[in-house]
Amino acid sequence: MTERAPARLAVLISGRGSNLQAFIDASASGALNAVIAVVISNNPDAAGLHKAREAGIAALCIDHRAFASREAFDAALLEQLRSHRVELVILAGFMRILTSTFIDAFAGRLLNIHPSLLPKYPGLHTHQRALDAGDTQAGVTVHFVTPELDGGPPVIQARVPVQPGDTADSLAARVIRLEHLIYPLAAQWYVQGRLQLNDQGAYLDGKQIPATGIQYPRDVP
Ligand code: GRF
Repeated sequence: MTERAPARLAVLISGRGSNLQAFIDASASGALNAVIAVVISNNPDAAGLHKAREAGIAALCIDHRAFASREAFDAALLEQLRSHRVELVILAGFMRILTSTFIDAFAGRLLNIHPSLLPKYPGLHTHQRALDAGDTQAGVTVHFVTPELDGGPPVIQARVPVQPGDTADSLAARVIRLEHLIYPLAAQWYVQGRLQLNDQGAYLDGKQIPATGIQYPRDVP
């Protein structure tokens, strides 16, 4: 049997980069058969850029404020992704809305992590919204990116109970640990050729993934 070559990933960030660190660790341990070819931030002050450089990964800032339009910014991003021969793009706390030109160029090869139980709470302030609604559970979803904001087909979802006295911060702290487990796992499914997006939705091992994603850890094959 021939071993697959490690897949070439880009991780796009805007801030802290704890999910990026989870990818760095997963590729170092072999849990993820991939190399991070490049890390790109739209924010020059993103702490994640330092995490990438400490790991010896090419890290660059494309500051969106230097571009006259979203199209021009996305064209610059695409140019970097092509020059680094990127196969799969990981959005990890990347706080820019991408144009459909960009999304089409990486259709089926573009993943995002969103800190809610999608389809609940697309957009911002997800944990506060879950608290305000009196939800008994919160969580996080990895999904394929389509032009609908936070609306692409879910891949995997992890839940935590909301506890008495929880704040948005305490909930976020509980959820982020699960983010670091499920996101590299979803990417590993992709690089193994097990995860695909088509017109009907997301598929794992040839089976359609349910509308809220594979529930972690209960339904992980
Ligand atoms: C995470 O909560 C992620 O779900 C959301 O943005 C945050 C990024 O955190 N999309 P980090 O930069 O990976 O630490």
